[in-house]
Amino acid sequence: MKIAALIVAAGSGSRLGAPIPKALVELAGEALIVHALRGMNNADVTDVVVTIPTGCESEFAAVLEKAGLDARLVVGGATRQESVARGLAQVDADVVLVHDAARALTPSAVIRSVVAALENGHRAVIPVLAVTDTIKKTDANDVVTETLDRASLRAVQTPQGFDTALLRQAHEQGKRMSESEQSAAPDDAALVELLGEAVFCVRGDAQSLKVTTPFDLAVAELILDQREAYSCESGR
Ligand code: CTP
Ligand code: MG
Repeated sequence: MKIAALIVAAGSGSRLGAPIPKALVELAGEALIVHALRGMNNADVTDVVVTIPTGCESEFAAVLEKAGLDARLVVGGATRQESVARGLAQVDADVVLVHDAARALTPSAVIRSVVAALENGHRAVIPVLAVTDTIKKTDANDVVTETLDRASLRAVQTPQGFDTALLRQAHEQGKRMSESEQSAAPDDAALVELLGEAVFCVRGDAQSLKVTTPFDLAVAELILDQREAYSCESGR
């Protein structure tokens, strides 16, 4: 079974607020995209397509070359969904792992679990965590309308693994949604769910947090420090 990864790194990182694209922001001296790509390679996934913001080809190429890493760079789109669709067009493999560059510290055990589930015949696989906060729905006046049953809720991470043909079909069918981040699918699995396909869950990891805000970057820095202190998963 031929495996490829598609790491989406074409976002600007508006909530992080850095003057450069989020994937180029450094964590312990190396760009988030370097950490994310090295994580894939550490899990033996070496055929990788990376979506990047338009006009940033030379910066991304230089950063990866300096780190001794290899990937095919593809200009992404205006929304994450569109970036995935564009990257997917360049993937040549039976199964594909779609991963956020912003989840720079995903342990290889999570990546390997997703791959193992694909090898066991699941066509759509997502890493998830149990939800620890109670989740409520509210209305426009900030009044609670419903308390959800936490036992059945899951927080979803990446990489999400798919049969490549299935994901292509899902993106083709959901193309119209990708015009804005508001109408776009929240993740790739949601597009596959719209086809009526089963999506299988494996265990995610808190270390696989998505760097969204400066607070997350500080947390990621701590995670990396701990890893190095205990020399597990160092990858460096
Ligand atoms: N992404 C992408 N193309 C886009 C938007 C997002 O490839 N048009 C990627 C980001 O680079 C990131 C992942 O999708 O790795 C998850 O998106 P998010 O964390 O929302 O990143 P940004 O969109 O860059 O951040 P923000 O929403 O704060 O602007
Ligand atoms: Mg975004």
